[in-house]
Amino acid sequence: EQLRKVHDMTFKEGKELKIRIKPNDDCIRFAINIGHDPDNIAMHFNPRFDWGGDSNVIVCNSMSGGCWGDECRNGNFPFVRGEECKFYINFNMEQFYIKLPDGSMMDFANRLGDVKYKYFEVTGDAKIVGIKIK
Ligand code: GAL
Repeated sequence: EQLRKVHDMTFKEGKELKIRIKPNDDCIRFAINIGHDPDNIAMHFNPRFDWGGDSNVIVCNSMSGGCWGDECRNGNFPFVRGEECKFYINFNMEQFYIKLPDGSMMDFANRLGDVKYKYFEVTGDAKIVGIKIK
């Protein structure tokens, strides 16, 4: 599985992160991790096309000190293999808000409770087309 770290990017409360992604033609899953380091992830956003018994579901979780928390699942799955899409993420101390490619919203608790994250990575079977914070 590919891992791409994005360097020199600081994501602060109230800012909007725009990400354009193209899931591979044979994508089984990909993930976006936002946090402090590989063991402390405030938001693991993990669309699963067909992985670990899941199909077409978005799994979100957090990791603290190397341990996963409780998973949250969202059955709305506006991702298509081979099709570029864009979505938006913003957050505050309490929640992450994700605007999915179909314009619908989902949220996920900001369990680490911080207002600034500098660790950002994309894993899995997708190509990053662009990432921007404004
Ligand atoms: C695990 C999986 C991790 C992560 C986690 C989320 O089963 O191996 O990559 O997706 O679920 O809870």
